[in-house]
Amino acid sequence: MKYVIANLKSNKSNQDMEKWLSEFSSLSQSLLKTAAGIEIIICPALSLVTTVAKWLADHRSNLPVSLGVQDISPYPAGAYTGAVSARNLDGLGVKYALVGHSERRHYFHENHQDVANKVSQCLENGMTPIVCVDVDYLQAQANAIKAEELARCLVAYEPLTAIGSGENQPVAEVEPIVKQVRQAFGSETVIYGGSVTPANVAAYAPVTDGVLVGTDSLDPAVFTQLIAHLI
Ligand code: PGA
Repeated sequence: MKYVIANLKSNKSNQDMEKWLSEFSSLSQSLLKTAAGIEIIICPALSLVTTVAKWLADHRSNLPVSLGVQDISPYPAGAYTGAVSARNLDGLGVKYALVGHSERRHYFHENHQDVANKVSQCLENGMTPIVCVDVDYLQAQANAIKAEELARCLVAYEPLTAIGSGENQPVAEVEPIVKQVRQAFGSETVIYGGSVTPANVAAYAPVTDGVLVGTDSLDPAVFTQLIAHLI
């Protein structure tokens, strides 16, 4: 299975999201109808999750698209003002959650234990965590996660220098790190993220299980082009 994850970050109003979805479905319909072994995961901002969920209810049968969130509370449902727990998302069809993205670690000071708690929340509530790591701390992050939960994670290897910089990491450098990630997590599924574009995406296919895309997921035409290069 190849995963193509759209991380829309804090971009887009509700109206923008509706436009993105309608453009994406008309642009990608014929491409995705024949595509086998690919899963597109759309991760919008939390306030847009219901919009994507409603759209998915109409399109899930003919498009291999799933819904993900960009973060999840490290706590269960309860008195945690401002946090969105897995329970809050129940019934919306959220299948995945990104956890530990470098922007969460940097701007919101999340540590390895917070990320490990988020992994537990996901797994206890039927969601698959996509744990984002860089090479410096991938072992420390793996150590913080409960042993029995490790192999149930998808892992996104995202080198800090490549995120949003236009400087994707060469595949030859990514390959040995993907092996390290597989060893540390015991997870078979490792995804690369960091300045993935339609021009470079195909190179990652032989050594990873997919890509995590920020900037080039914002325009549905570019994102569809990117998927086309992977199929
Ligand atoms: P980018 O973002 O594609 O803009 O580099 C990737 C990410 O932050 O997940």
